[in-house]
Amino acid sequence: MFLQSALLATFAFSSSALAAFGITTSGNNIVVDAGSDNALVVSIDKRSCDIKSILFRGEEFQYQSQGSHISSGLGSATVSSIIVNSQYAKVTCKTSTLTHYIVVKSGDPTLYMATDTTSEPSVGELRFIARLQPSKLPLEYPFGSVSTTSGSSSTVEGSDVFVVNGQTRSKFYSSERFIDDYVHCVYRDSDPIHACILLNSYSYERSSGGPFFRDINSNNAGDSTNLYFYMNSGHVRTENYRMGLHGPYALQFSRSSIPTGKSMDTTFFKDLGISGYVAPSGRGTVTGTATGGASGLQKVLHWYNANDQYWVYADSSGKFTSPPMKPGTYTQVFYQGEFKLSSTTATVTAGKTTTANISGSLTSRTSLFKLGEYDGQPTGFRNADKQLRMHPSDSRMSSWGPLTYIVGSSSLTDVPMALFKDTNTPFTIKFTLTAAQASGAATLRVATTLSFAGGRPRAVVNSYTPATPAAPTKIDSRGVTRGAYRGFGEVYDFAIPAGSLVDGWRG
Ligand SMILES: *[C@@H]1O[C@H](CO)[C@@H](O)[C@H](O)[C@H]1NC(C)=O
Repeated sequence: MFLQSALLATFAFSSSALAAFGITTSGNNIVVDAGSDNALVVSIDKRSCDIKSILFRGEEFQYQSQGSHISSGLGSATVSSIIVNSQYAKVTCKTSTLTHYIVVKSGDPTLYMATDTTSEPSVGELRFIARLQPSKLPLEYPFGSVSTTSGSSSTVEGSDVFVVNGQTRSKFYSSERFIDDYVHCVYRDSDPIHACILLNSYSYERSSGGPFFRDINSNNAGDSTNLYFYMNSGHVRTENYRMGLHGPYALQFSRSSIPTGKSMDTTFFKDLGISGYVAPSGRGTVTGTATGGASGLQKVLHWYNANDQYWVYADSSGKFTSPPMKPGTYTQVFYQGEFKLSSTTATVTAGKTTTANISGSLTSRTSLFKLGEYDGQPTGFRNADKQLRMHPSDSRMSSWGPLTYIVGSSSLTDVPMALFKDTNTPFTIKFTLTAAQASGAATLRVATTLSFAGGRPRAVVNSYTPATPAAPTKIDSRGVTRGAYRGFGEVYDFAIPAGSLVDGWRG
């Protein structure tokens, strides 16, 4: 008898196939063994819900000085565990303002999680952070070293933009638009191991900010390699926070392959007694056709109300079907790129498909010139290709100017993607008009995506100076310097009365 169990233990260590699915306790920890071929054994502190150990294939990946957890740790929580239907290990952590669930499915090296909140954490953001060992998982996916701040020599701004080997780096530069962010990882190449956050349409329904919102995803910070799911934050926030069940979302360990998050199946949550979880059978969908929208720009549909939010790309002909949505009435928005064209409402009923067509297009007008597209992004302008992944002061950036654009001969990269009051103002546009064009009134329209500290455009047209527009709604956040470009998207019209324009070249 003794011999046999010793043999079994030896086998369990060298061949993970014999690992047993289940929950045990060890000291202050609840230990969950996924019983998977690629063994995953996770220890969760019963007092705090901190993840203290993550053994994958027998190797420790958890950073040992701090736990993996919600926010910066719950401090103390009431933690319980149960096996459901012989195949799900469910750990429930409760505080006075939230319930966090960690679920492990038999045979699957993944932590499925969901976080049910009744109020915003006092720190003002809600996130899960996996703090892993940087020596074992040094690399970041999909954007690489832009957010690897280990080895930094100095700080550029705040305490979160650093210089490493002459390049500006920040955790903010790991961001991806929610609509495109189904998987992000930290990993290593030799004897490859990936730790990835997986997200599906359920993951974001209680977040805020819509399809183009982005947040911190990963950061090899030197002490620990951090992998995040930001459920909400004040990082260029444009919408109220939503409370309730955030998730499911997952932390998955794998070897060489990067998992596909979008198709992650979390529908087994319906059997687990998860507060606030609405199963597919309690949901409905919206389908339809979006007509209009500039060809060559993505067509995006977005649904939101005070409780939930969803989105989907339409195909090139404008056909769309929403993800499974909770019943309710939603504002349905149609964007070309990220530029809002129109909105309507759509009502979702459980078990039903609602048709809600939508059309939208820009008012056609005669332009003397147009720089860029109404795509809601700074695409094509100078430094727009770099701004998401580095600081404006980075030496790899092209000169910010002040720049001059000559209609007919300049290129779009002669338009700066951002105007900084003290750096590259003014931006000058030169153009020639015929006598007929110059004789009438005109409008100078400036479409912006984001403002900072009340900043807005002023215009001077020859000797005419239109009134300065009112200050835009202030967003209490840094923006362009930490890789953000999307706020409320103010559009300013400057009326230019007849007699202000001149014909010919007066440069
Ligand atoms: C929605 O648009 C499609 C495609 O143009 C059309 O066939 C359908 O009749 C429309 N449905 C409604 C309810 O308007």
